Amino acid sequence: MILFTGDTHGEESRFYQILAAQEKEWTEKDTLIVTGDFQYLFRDDFWEHKFLNELERKRYTICFCCGNHENFDALEGYETETWNGGKVHRIRNNIYHLMRGQFFTIEGKKIFTFGGAHSIDWYMRKEHISWWRQEMPCPQEYAEARENLKRHGYVVDYIVTHTAPTEIIEALGFQPDPDEAELNGFLQEIMRGVKYGEWFFGHWHRDARVDDKHRAIWFDVEKR
Ligand SMILES: [Fe+2]
Repeated sequence: MILFTGDTHGEESRFYQILAAQEKEWTEKDTLIVTGDFQYLFRDDFWEHKFLNELERKRYTICFCCGNHENFDALEGYETETWNGGKVHRIRNNIYHLMRGQFFTIEGKKIFTFGGAHSIDWYMRKEHISWWRQEMPCPQEYAEARENLKRHGYVVDYIVTHTAPTEIIEALGFQPDPDEAELNGFLQEIMRGVKYGEWFFGHWHRDARVDDKHRAIWFDVEKR
């Protein structure tokens, strides 16, 4: 099974309580994908690494695209590896950061990832301590995404992002952030030009189905 869930924000209760009952049936064949704001590697301290070591004992694989609450300096400290066809940072033996603009094949399904979002509270956070400018994609990441989408014939089963296309943000009842316009516009371009089955995104802290293709996800777990 491929399982999708939303922002976990480094909350230990997410695994200890919320996922505890469901994960009993998950095996080493299953992959849980978090749609950004994973945040179990944020302070990069002893306690976070202790919890990551506990997550490493889970039978299933845990993946995440990046959100706007990740320690990008820490993520980039891990070697870039190829996993299931796309670039990752391997945080533990079963924990992977799915990098931007990548295609992964999991259980025969193609998954395209493009994490990142703009923090509206960035001015209250401290750079390299609690805020990282890499939260927004750089030109090379947009270019790599475009190249990979072309290489895969603009067809994919699932899209996993943190934020969403402009139109989808508005359909959810939110006002798009002008500082995120380039990213939302790029996702909008994907929405128009790529053939995909479903799109899962976090960021908005909502469990809501916008339509049959677009799913804002937070605490729910969608199984495919
Ligand atoms: Fe979040």
